[in-house]
Amino acid sequence: MRHRKKLIEVALPLDAINKASVREGYIYRGNPSALHKWWAQRPLAAARAVIFAQMVDDPSANPDLFPTEKAQEKERKRLFRIIEDLVKWENTTNEAVLQKARDEIWQSWRRACVENADHPRAKELFNRHKLPGFHDPFAGGGTLPLEAQRLGLEAYTSDLNPVAVLITKAMIEIPPRFAGQPPVNPKACREKPLIAKQWKGAQGLAEDVRYYGRWLRDEAEKRIGHLYPKIEITAEMAKERPDLKPLVGQKLTVIAWLWARTVKSPNPAFAHVDVPLASTFMLSTKAGKEVYVEPVIKDGGYHFTVKVGKPKDSEAAKLGTTAGKRSAFRCLMSGVPVTYDHIRDEAKAGRMGARLMATVVQGQHRRGYLTPTADHETAAHNAKPEWKPEVEFFPQALGFRVGNYGMTKWSDLFTSRQLVALTTFSDLVRKARELVRRDAQAAGLPDGIALSEGGSGAIAYADAISVYLAFAVDKYAMYGNSLVPWYSKESRPSMLFSQQVLSMVWDYTEINPFSAIGGAFAKSVAIVADSLEGLPKDPPRAEVAQQNAGVGARARAHLVSTDPPYYDNVGYADLSDFFYVWLRRTLASVFPDLFATLTTPKAEELVATPGRHGGNEKAEVFFLDGMRQVMHRLTEQVHPAFPTTIYYAFRQSESRGDQRRTSTGWETFLEAVIGAGFSISGTWPMRTERAGRMRDSGSNALASSIVLV
Ligand SMILES: C[S@@+](CC[C@H](N)C(=O)[O-])C[C@H]1O[C@@H](n2cnc3c(N)ncnc32)[C@H](O)[C@@H]1O
Repeated sequence: MRHRKKLIEVALPLDAINKASVREGYIYRGNPSALHKWWAQRPLAAARAVIFAQMVDDPSANPDLFPTEKAQEKERKRLFRIIEDLVKWENTTNEAVLQKARDEIWQSWRRACVENADHPRAKELFNRHKLPGFHDPFAGGGTLPLEAQRLGLEAYTSDLNPVAVLITKAMIEIPPRFAGQPPVNPKACREKPLIAKQWKGAQGLAEDVRYYGRWLRDEAEKRIGHLYPKIEITAEMAKERPDLKPLVGQKLTVIAWLWARTVKSPNPAFAHVDVPLASTFMLSTKAGKEVYVEPVIKDGGYHFTVKVGKPKDSEAAKLGTTAGKRSAFRCLMSGVPVTYDHIRDEAKAGRMGARLMATVVQGQHRRGYLTPTADHETAAHNAKPEWKPEVEFFPQALGFRVGNYGMTKWSDLFTSRQLVALTTFSDLVRKARELVRRDAQAAGLPDGIALSEGGSGAIAYADAISVYLAFAVDKYAMYGNSLVPWYSKESRPSMLFSQQVLSMVWDYTEINPFSAIGGAFAKSVAIVADSLEGLPKDPPRAEVAQQNAGVGARARAHLVSTDPPYYDNVGYADLSDFFYVWLRRTLASVFPDLFATLTTPKAEELVATPGRHGGNEKAEVFFLDGMRQVMHRLTEQVHPAFPTTIYYAFRQSESRGDQRRTSTGWETFLEAVIGAGFSISGTWPMRTERAGRMRDSGSNALASSIVLV
């Protein structure tokens, strides 16, 4: 077989790819990557460009067409322009741009087929009417197979992790089953403009996710809305706060409650007082819109008042009750240090509590902060969940920093009101599934078989909608837990997993899931539905399986582009249990095989977790052996006409003299690749992470490379 050099083996327009990749990280609306959280998701733009350049001939491979270097260079520039258009965010679903790229791929493919017509395995390897399939055994959030699908390839992909498998299914396997179908909800079947609309790709699915998402939200509000009382602004309140005067008599929706965790004071004189661990008293630091909390010590106890304007002692307000690194906090009542040891002991003894510091309300034009009231504190504490995910997590998991503070089970990450909300939403997803099935039948779909069995009728459609609704619940869960800080610079909640860690948050935000704040349920539904609109309009079929990359034998003669785990950077399986425990409740009957176990599989996960493998050295051996095995399998699975691309990222500190990490990360990976029989023909540096996205607090950003084999 004659090997034709592919563009990626010679040149790439790196600047354009990197720029588009970084930009894409800031776009949420209509971005398929926003369908569900996965860690270290690759940008779609980079994935698309790499697969294209892997499949298209470099002009030097066609000397008959481009005999001189000058002609080759000119042709390369033309191909570059195609890539430059292809990576632009605006062109993600631009059929004209995509078709141009697909045409190039087909042209190169047909040339290879003609040239290899007499190959002994020509029938299997060089079918000029069918592009080779695509394979990625580390699918994760599905980015690489999605982009292969967008470029016209059937994708056969897998991951060990059931949550990753579900996300990838939701991205590339489920939508083609219902592509181009109209929504089934009664409104869409009744209203003329919706009946007349031409539904492309996953637009019908997206419309139904919006409709049933709204139904679910409203039903949940009927059941548990009373747990989120409004606040009436009284004349009394306005006495202290003239800014509230225009609002007197109005009942305002609380969008968030801001809590400070508490422990008993270590000072024996105040041992009965639950003192706050407040990392700051500043609620809003926006210039000219400063708001802060002032603790008032009275009658052997304290309460909080919310003040508008710059605090007299800005430094003290900024510090809250913190007292520097060693002594952690100070007792609000007496000033004595509240050490981490004391906090840990209190937490483990079950004596960590929480006090409401402020409520955030939505006024007509802006957000406001109010002094907490006792009834609001009581409303939160009165919530009694009927169920909770009492599943233990692995305290030594990579990036888990909450185990020392009495948190051992996933349910410990939530307040009781959050548990009530998540349980209610999850149960309603199951109800929604029944409703969708009835509506789909009424809309004329035959019942058919389940989605997990390959169905595409009413039952499968209801299964599919329930997957996307469960994703909206997961999205809310990222804000609806007690590890969410308040971002005082922008007066909004942050969210869990902005880094791949579980860190303790001393003063946390509890959002109102029925309000209009970011992370609330309606917003989560909108993001999920919108992200479906960014999927390909006419996708070829795809298959996604749960499989260990080291043993799976799915692929043969496939184009391979893959993105394995980076040594010890992300503990995917441990982190993903945060979602798994909720998804299992809602979707175990939709995908029984994916949710058969209590938690996600860990033992075979190719991540060098010292806590799991018995120390650093054993973890390294496990990673090297496992990666070598996977790479060996890949050598059997790749199509001989194409180079394989493997993404790899490593901490920048590795290349800055941290010798141990260098050898264990990047070099161990390269060793596995070569040991498996691949030969490395080049690497491309990629700037594919959004600034700050992959930062482990205090450590270094990841640098990425594409390794060509
Ligand atoms: C870097 S991530 C892939 C990210 C993906 N490219 C994306 O853009 O979202 C690596 C993936 O490898 C998976 N993984 C780890 N060990 C595995 C194994 N033994 N077999 C298959 N998948 C594994 C993890 O679950 C994770 O999803």
